[in-house]
Amino acid sequence: MEYDVAFVGLGYVGLSSAVCFADRGINVLGIEIDSKKLNMIKKSNSPIHEKNINELLQKSIKKKKLSFSKELKDVTKTKIIFLTVGTPSRKDGSIDLKYINQATKDIAIAIKNIQEYFVIVVKSTVVPGTALKIVKNLERYSGKKNSIDFGVVVNPEFLQEGNAINDSLKPDKIVLGINSEKDKKIMFNLFKKIYRKNLPIVYTTPSNAELIKYANNSLLATKISFMNYIARIAEQIPDGDVEEIKNAIGMDKRISESFLNAGLGFGGSCFPKDVKALIAFSKEMNINSDILQSVLTINDTQFMSVFDILKKELGSLQGKKISILGLSFKPETDDIRDAISLKIIKKLLDKKATIRVYDPIANDNVRDIFGKSISYASNSESCIKGSECCIIVTEWKEFKNIKPKDFTRLMKRPLIIDGRRIFSKKKFNKLEYHAIGLG
Ligand code: UDX
Repeated sequence: MEYDVAFVGLGYVGLSSAVCFADRGINVLGIEIDSKKLNMIKKSNSPIHEKNINELLQKSIKKKKLSFSKELKDVTKTKIIFLTVGTPSRKDGSIDLKYINQATKDIAIAIKNIQEYFVIVVKSTVVPGTALKIVKNLERYSGKKNSIDFGVVVNPEFLQEGNAINDSLKPDKIVLGINSEKDKKIMFNLFKKIYRKNLPIVYTTPSNAELIKYANNSLLATKISFMNYIARIAEQIPDGDVEEIKNAIGMDKRISESFLNAGLGFGGSCFPKDVKALIAFSKEMNINSDILQSVLTINDTQFMSVFDILKKELGSLQGKKISILGLSFKPETDDIRDAISLKIIKKLLDKKATIRVYDPIANDNVRDIFGKSISYASNSESCIKGSECCIIVTEWKEFKNIKPKDFTRLMKRPLIIDGRRIFSKKKFNKLEYHAIGLG
């Protein structure tokens, strides 16, 4: 075998994993059908923005640990094939398996006449039962038998954007949904070369592994919406402050302190999509999803608190100069998929405000959507200059260094809406300072 593993689909998960495996000495073949994307990757110019990814790409390509192909039939150059294609949302929230189905069919045809045992590892996020469908399709198009000629393993990914390399190399856990001892051995032998010793591997069934991914993300999303709900209450009570509530409840080990930050809501390519997919999946089984429906409702309306404050402080927004700091769905990424900034800009445009935005790396992505209808600053100072209100939408580190006196000096009116609680209420109390979850 020319390669130890192949990754089919070099999106966020595929590329980060491919680079990390290669860095650990595994011979990796990355397969991507999008030529534009593939050409960028080959030049060590990653299409996704991640710390160290270009350096690792360059190093692995140079050491010949990472090679690429545009052809799916090349999966036969390895015995372990990771499926890392996208599973986008359909209109009703359910996931669209078209890329999975196509890749599965192509893999089946490619392995048809090869007398080797292949393991197909499903890393894409898929609802329970998908691995079974993949098995059926592989059998149908290859004429081979599951467990005898090939195995299907489910290995969901939990990496966070902005920290993808670190998360890929040092995950909290590895979940492996397996059907046979043979697949378990193959996966263990691969993973022991990549990860630290004593890594907590959770062995389970493929269906459970599929559900674990959705349960994991939906629970985290629920924590956030719950805190946003508490934030709304805190805003209405004298001296209320959701930060103080968070610090106290986070000390309870049963709750833990992470993912309790109230804000303008969660965005990104995973939480909104995965919660919707779990709701759609539950519906097929007549299971009530009110709990997750509320998570979404809170999230969809959370940004409106900005407009409540704007209405109270500025009245009509027509022609008012509003500055926005932070556009990406979270810091350390230029990803604006489902970013809250987009909803806020749309609504501000409806209200005919004059908008100036700044993000350390996501300006261009937002420009692709809003073009000249808003203006783009190249730093935070020039963004807030002359504005009548500044909204902090994403908690980039560099914004935390802006001092109260900078806002007073530069803004026409020092009205701040801190959507991510990055400033100290004590230091900002001389300004017109409003914040999520602050009464
Ligand atoms: C998420 C999961 O964390 C990860 O395990 C999975 O593999 C993919 O989905 P990601 O989308 O990269 O990762 O971002 P994450 O850091 O989880 O944040 C998601 C959103 O929640 C962001 O918009 C963030 O601002 C928001 N968030 C997060 C909060 O509002 N409060 C918090 O306390 C944490």
